[in-house]
Amino acid sequence: VSSTDMDRLQGLSIHISSFLKVGPERVIMSSFFTDLYSKYENFPVYQDDTWVVTYPKSGTTWAQELVWCLIKDPKSPEAKLELKKRFPFLEDPGLDTTGMRKDDPMCPGNTWQILHNLSAPRTIKSHLPKELLPKQIWQVKPKIVYVCRDPRDVCVSFYYQFIKLHGYKDTFNHFVQLFLDDIMLYSPFWVHILNFWKMRHEDHILFLRYEDMTKDLAAVVRQVAAFLGRNVNEEQVSWLTHHCTFEEMSKNPAVNYDTFRMAPTQEAKEIKFMRKGKVGDWRNHLTEEQQKAFKQWTLKYLQGSDFPYYQD
Ligand code: A3P
Repeated sequence: VSSTDMDRLQGLSIHISSFLKVGPERVIMSSFFTDLYSKYENFPVYQDDTWVVTYPKSGTTWAQELVWCLIKDPKSPEAKLELKKRFPFLEDPGLDTTGMRKDDPMCPGNTWQILHNLSAPRTIKSHLPKELLPKQIWQVKPKIVYVCRDPRDVCVSFYYQFIKLHGYKDTFNHFVQLFLDDIMLYSPFWVHILNFWKMRHEDHILFLRYEDMTKDLAAVVRQVAAFLGRNVNEEQVSWLTHHCTFEEMSKNPAVNYDTFRMAPTQEAKEIKFMRKGKVGDWRNHLTEEQQKAFKQWTLKYLQGSDFPYYQD
């Protein structure tokens, strides 16, 4: 067994044990991931692919639209196609072994086909942690844009997604606990982030922060363009910056996911995928005690790391 295989096995076991801790529903999820693991281990990767990889709710859709517009023609009819067709989600293959309901948006049934029919240069989204991404990624080294976000905002955003998409009915407090216990889908959060943070100087990886995108989107547009080797003039930068604002993306049916199935409650109906798009919404949700718990949990993972901590 090579060291890469060991890494992958370790990643898989962390990931699966996360699910095993939370009871029968998550055990189904663990077999889902075991399937994905074997299915995607040998997924073909090409040099001219571009991948957007994130922990969920970190600004994935935002980065995807920006990357797609830089690689393809944002004014072409194709740009009006739903993002998931232009920029499919790797682990959204519609396998019938997931145990998911067929009307669950995570189980659309045709993504596998879309993935395999994508024409080059392909653009692919994944939330898989480093260890579980297709093996060829680390040999072929396509460009990867990784986005991270303050975990407190990720947790709040994820909570609303769970109500909207997955019919979550328990309390916010309970959700925070699941998040801090690292038993959410795709957790442990910090392992996900730090593994990419450590690789941020590699030529094929661009490590972005949601907070920087919010602060100066035009600068990030230039940074992503340079990373992708695209020449953009200031007029294009300004067009793209406007196109990717929260307001514009909220109105754009190709990226706002207004068609996502919603859980049949009034609360769920009122939640938009493009919800607030703000830094620091956690202040409206976390108690002082929860803030302390986030800090402790963060410091535990960041010990010995040079990752700049979210302090304010
Ligand atoms: P909120 O729920 O905090 O509003 P992902 O695409 O990874 O699922 O992330 C979704 C989060 O990114 C949501 O956060 C969404 O509103 C936010 N988002 C999407 N597009 C954005 C944009 N153009 N500007 C700011 N935030 C954006």
